[in-house]
Amino acid sequence: SDIEKGTYPYYMLKEIDEQPAVMRRLVQEYRQADGEIHIDSALVSELAASDRVYIVACGTSSHAGWAAKRFFEELTQIPVEIHLSSEFGYNLPLISKKPFFIYLSQSGETADSRQVLVKTNELDYPALTITNVAGSTLSREADHTLLLYAGPEIAVASTKAYTAQIAVMALLATAVGRTKGLAKATNFPVFQELGIVASAMESIISEKSHFSDLTAEYLTATRNAFYIGRGNDYYVSMEAALKLKEISYIQAEGFAAGELKHGTIALIEEGTPVIGIITDEVTGSHTRGNLKEVESRGAKTLVIASEALAKVGDQILLPQVHPYLTSLLAVLPTQLLAYYATLQRGYDVDKPRNLAKSVTVE
Ligand code: G6P
Repeated sequence: SDIEKGTYPYYMLKEIDEQPAVMRRLVQEYRQADGEIHIDSALVSELAASDRVYIVACGTSSHAGWAAKRFFEELTQIPVEIHLSSEFGYNLPLISKKPFFIYLSQSGETADSRQVLVKTNELDYPALTITNVAGSTLSREADHTLLLYAGPEIAVASTKAYTAQIAVMALLATAVGRTKGLAKATNFPVFQELGIVASAMESIISEKSHFSDLTAEYLTATRNAFYIGRGNDYYVSMEAALKLKEISYIQAEGFAAGELKHGTIALIEEGTPVIGIITDEVTGSHTRGNLKEVESRGAKTLVIASEALAKVGDQILLPQVHPYLTSLLAVLPTQLLAYYATLQRGYDVDKPRNLAKSVTVE
């Protein structure tokens, strides 16, 4: 069953492996017989009429919000803000005239997020919860719910919920953009592209020993590490660093590649691992420049790059997917690096110290 580990040593590895199947399941669940996207039209039109989307979430779910920001804005032409629940609750920014709130929560039970939902409900702002758990508190209390269909996520470190959240955001943005008659959304074959992502994920997952070797070479013995990237690759870097630190206890930071030189580069020493994520044609060469800068200060660099942008010596190659969806793919190697680093350092992958799967206190 879904909650059995089977032959897997840890739930996290099982859940990493399930991601292609989750992508395909989402296509199945959200594709109507006529090929259109199966999302409640009341939700889609309410969103289409809004002038700003506020994504509210914690932890990995907030990183999924970041990963969705750019394609959501392009496909819907609605500006998107991402807020941490614990900050937003006490620091309400100036809200636009026709806001729409999206709560991203794997569990649907996170207290910090619920607190904001209670507040926005009081203010009569429309809200959608995107969650893995039907009937969860955030699902019951929001006007609308979309499900992740990822199956139970048991490992504390979230993997398949992150990619499922991004995929559901892509489906939602496409539906909204099409309702608004926007060509970018009409011309974006979202189901087909998610299918391509699923196959690409499979090819990454099938090379586990490559990741375990790279981890041994770059991460297992280090005290700290950096992920860098620009744009979507920066947003994935934040999630990659969180994954690494929360289970392997390596102090990791995800950084906007160009910002490194404005302070953080002082931390680079002989042998410090710096992992660059490169999936964007325009920013990729700049990130490569930043990798050169840290190399000349002793860093050990590792590159995760889309095949089309790859250079000789890049250690991890990502099959080509639609530019909107690169985060879905780029995050996979970083999940595997975190997994193997934890294993090789001798810690419990599924039950990191001090952490809970679902945090129901403020
Ligand atoms: C906890 C978990 C994280 C998760 C966060 C938000 O801190 O350990 O993995 O990202 O809560 O959880 P949610 O269920 O709201 O997505």
